[in-house]
Amino acid sequence: MANFKIQNKADYEQSFQESVNQPEAFWNSIADNYTWRKKWDKTLEWNFTDPDVKWFINGKLNITENCLDRHLEQRGNKIALIWEPNDPKEMSIRYTYRELHSHVCRMANVLKKLGVTKGDRVCIYLPMIPELAFAVLACARLGAVHSVVFAGFSVNALADRIQDSGCKLVITSDGLNRGAKQIPVKSVVDEAIASCPLVEKVLVVNRLNWPIQMKDGRDIWYHEALSHEGDSCQATEMDSEDQLFILYTSGSTGKPKGVVHTCGGYMVYVGYTFQNVFQYNESDIYWCTADIGWITGHSYILYGPLLQGATTLMFEGVPTFPDPGRFWQVIDKHSVNSFYTAPTAIRSLMASGVDHVLAYSLHSLKVLGSVGEPINEEAWHWYHTHVGKGRCPLVDTWWQTETGGIMISALAGISDLKPAHAGLPLPGIQTLLVDNEGNEITGEGVEGYLCIKFPWPSMIRTTYGDHERCRQTYFSNYKNLYFTGDGARREEGGIYRIIGRVDDVINVSGHRFGTAEIENAINQNKKVVESAVVGFPHDIKGQGIYAYVILGEGASNDNHTRDEIVESVVEYIGRIAKPDKIQFVSGLPKTRSGKIMRRILRKIAEGDTSSLGDTSTLLDPLIVDEIANGRL
Ligand code: WTA
Repeated sequence: MANFKIQNKADYEQSFQESVNQPEAFWNSIADNYTWRKKWDKTLEWNFTDPDVKWFINGKLNITENCLDRHLEQRGNKIALIWEPNDPKEMSIRYTYRELHSHVCRMANVLKKLGVTKGDRVCIYLPMIPELAFAVLACARLGAVHSVVFAGFSVNALADRIQDSGCKLVITSDGLNRGAKQIPVKSVVDEAIASCPLVEKVLVVNRLNWPIQMKDGRDIWYHEALSHEGDSCQATEMDSEDQLFILYTSGSTGKPKGVVHTCGGYMVYVGYTFQNVFQYNESDIYWCTADIGWITGHSYILYGPLLQGATTLMFEGVPTFPDPGRFWQVIDKHSVNSFYTAPTAIRSLMASGVDHVLAYSLHSLKVLGSVGEPINEEAWHWYHTHVGKGRCPLVDTWWQTETGGIMISALAGISDLKPAHAGLPLPGIQTLLVDNEGNEITGEGVEGYLCIKFPWPSMIRTTYGDHERCRQTYFSNYKNLYFTGDGARREEGGIYRIIGRVDDVINVSGHRFGTAEIENAINQNKKVVESAVVGFPHDIKGQGIYAYVILGEGASNDNHTRDEIVESVVEYIGRIAKPDKIQFVSGLPKTRSGKIMRRILRKIAEGDTSSLGDTSTLLDPLIVDEIANGRL
């Protein structure tokens, strides 16, 4: 029987072996650590052809009983959630498990009154305030499928996501705080749902006391609805394979896809990985700086830590407000023990100088984590030395929205660390590298496409409303393999180093965008005839966005037009997808069949114009020189 908690290297090796040799027995013993209303009949059924994956078949549960109710007896008075506001002068709020349970039940009762039942989709468009945590868990309590949309997305991006999943309720706030700024939120929802006829109600949280427009019969203030509600709410019994949530993520086509996760497997895997990667101890205070609008926030601010009865910190603000010492101030203020952030944040804080870090003691820290993109060695060392004072293990965790939980990572204090290397796969994760034809590349010191050959409990089940897209994107490149879209190296000892995306996805500050998605947004601008977008190395963001744009007749290729194009992207997707560079060109390098040769555009954007490779198959080889000469 595998132990739930991995305590040392031998445990890890034994668990890993068992998970490969007897996956069902292994996962049975891990899943036994949770509360099930009814035990599963069968552990796993799967094929990667359809694909069709089912875990813990006919098991019945509610994930919130595992996140909340089961802790009440032992940990009722333990702090579950610490909320730290944007403005350090505002009070932070601490919720015990009992209090969090009661907030979630009350919100669930409000939702129930508004007609939300099992299987309904609810869109949550909220900033990082406690009500966001309540809303996510309240949906899960009722068996409603939550679709959290990052509150930085624009009207169009929000409308697309609401429509695609057919949400009937939207939960939002009047506005949000972002550093020194206050930004409207409800008005974005108002505009978005003008094109979403299925939305019946909008539940509005008062964050800023703004006098906003409330539409009669449709919009309801959360605090008003709440006053009638009691603090107990029966959790709805869910099947292991009932949908828990949808989370949209970008792929190689223009339209983001709704990654679907289900109740049982997701629960089992995120609790297990949270416990073991961060080596959580009962009295630790854990902080993940992601936004709950992304998968990292779902799995490792909310579900993972709460499943394990941890104290999790949620931060409303930004790393640079009121100054670039804010993260470190918050760590000292709340005596944070585990700190999980993104390389882009580390690089931007590095650029503000080490004095901001040295001003704080950081003596409470025991474990550091990194997620979202490859962490370069310089950032790794800075983080390890100045933040971790050389004494905290730094785990570099590789995973994806689609994987639900951490897949490749060191285990804090157990595994050997190698800067810029994610490490070994976790138990249950059967990784391999393949070449272009899908042949496995064995051995060490090799490089290839990163795939996974056996299901794990929290893997993507489908893309909402379009199963074929799920098959095409992840299961069609290589027979019987899940393809991650990443390239990787396997080094001595079997440890992995992730190289980055090999598809048309750009990872900007740890946020994924499809090149086609940004091109669509740019092409919304009437002056634009055509565009091609590629990533290029960026000191802080990891990758920046480089756009090549063909303008229509009469449009002037100046900075004013550039600003207008940027505005189109802001309007269509959001500020987070703003192009860093826009180069006007008279044509694009295309093959005779009309396909844009992005390889060439990527090289030019990177500044590597010496080896553009074979351009003879291009329709107009001369265009390459023009583009290379005009590089920004
Ligand atoms: C990249 C975020 C290198 C990778 C959890 C992956 C990483 C994509 C790492 C998923 C890491 C994530 N090292 N690359 N530690 N973590 N990535 O869906 O390219 O927002 O495919 O999930 O981020 O991004 P997503």
